[in-house]
Amino acid sequence: MKRYGEVTALDGLDLDVPGGTVLGLLGPNGAGKTTAVSILTTLTRPDAGTAMVAGVDVLADPRGVRARIGLSGQYAAVDEHLTATENLEMIGCLYGMSRRDARRRGLELLDQFRLMEAADRPLKTFSGGMRRRIDLAGALVADPPVLFLDEPTTGLDPRSRGELWEAIRDRVQRGTTVLLTTQYLEEADQLADEIVVIDHGHAIAKGTSEELKRRVGGEHLDVHVNGADDARRTESIMNKVATGPMRVHHDEGEVSAPVANGVEALSIVLRELEEQRIAIVDIGLRRPTLDDVFMELTGHEASAEASQ
Ligand SMILES: Nc1ncnc2c1ncn2[C@@H]1O[C@H](COP(=O)(O)OP(=O)(O)O)[C@@H](O)[C@H]1O
Ligand SMILES: [Mg+2]
Repeated sequence: MKRYGEVTALDGLDLDVPGGTVLGLLGPNGAGKTTAVSILTTLTRPDAGTAMVAGVDVLADPRGVRARIGLSGQYAAVDEHLTATENLEMIGCLYGMSRRDARRRGLELLDQFRLMEAADRPLKTFSGGMRRRIDLAGALVADPPVLFLDEPTTGLDPRSRGELWEAIRDRVQRGTTVLLTTQYLEEADQLADEIVVIDHGHAIAKGTSEELKRRVGGEHLDVHVNGADDARRTESIMNKVATGPMRVHHDEGEVSAPVANGVEALSIVLRELEEQRIAIVDIGLRRPTLDDVFMELTGHEASAEASQ
């Protein structure tokens, strides 16, 4: 449990991550993900409750925990004015590695993350994508058995995101245990063995990606029409194919529903829209997102600040 003044950031969150697996902590902005990570990485003390990381109690032996973990997120210990190589070397030394080992390991990681060309540039000249990659490299220098990755790919372009996913998978294959936080259902789907969905500091669902997707529906059909009247008529058409709660924004003319068979639903809806002479601005199938998970689990959308 963790309170910040009036705000209860964490409230009875129970996590269990078997060694060598990835737990995905999925939730919108403000859900408590970073608070959970800060407690587990000993950066914040909980107001109540206990936690063990790699067999070590975070309250009784925070130094022991820090020696066994790697952390990547907005709080990483990188120095803007040092070069990429110098930063990785410094982090390695903080973990007690010799300067030579840290340097060698750093170069290996720079190579793996396509940062060799930027190896001798200060971090302040790095692009956002490069920053994320060096940040993850920093968490990997000392090869810790447990990794905490707090929204490792938020804001990244698809290519960089895919590369980071590969690097994370690679670590897991070598036996690293990972706790990953994310706002992207797809990211949890790609990486996590088990997913815990959190909202307002507590778990609202737990399961494998398959289990969650079964609850949320495989695909979503989005229809965009002109104005509230058409949206209402579209809503009743979509009712025939929806397999769960729909999301409707009348004024924007947007209707979205989970569907079982995407292609079939799409053709049924297209035919009906045409028969009723409803003009389509846009229509398409897509995979479920965190917003869809929230709609299904809570009956309401993730809070407004979540959709970034
Ligand atoms: N240092 C802090 N002081 C006050 N409130 C905080 C602090 N850190 C987090 N909070 C609040 O706690 C809640 C959870 O935040 P956080 O753990 O950062 O969520 P997330 O990482 O999921 O976006 C939010 O309501 C946030 O505003
Ligand atoms: Mg956060």
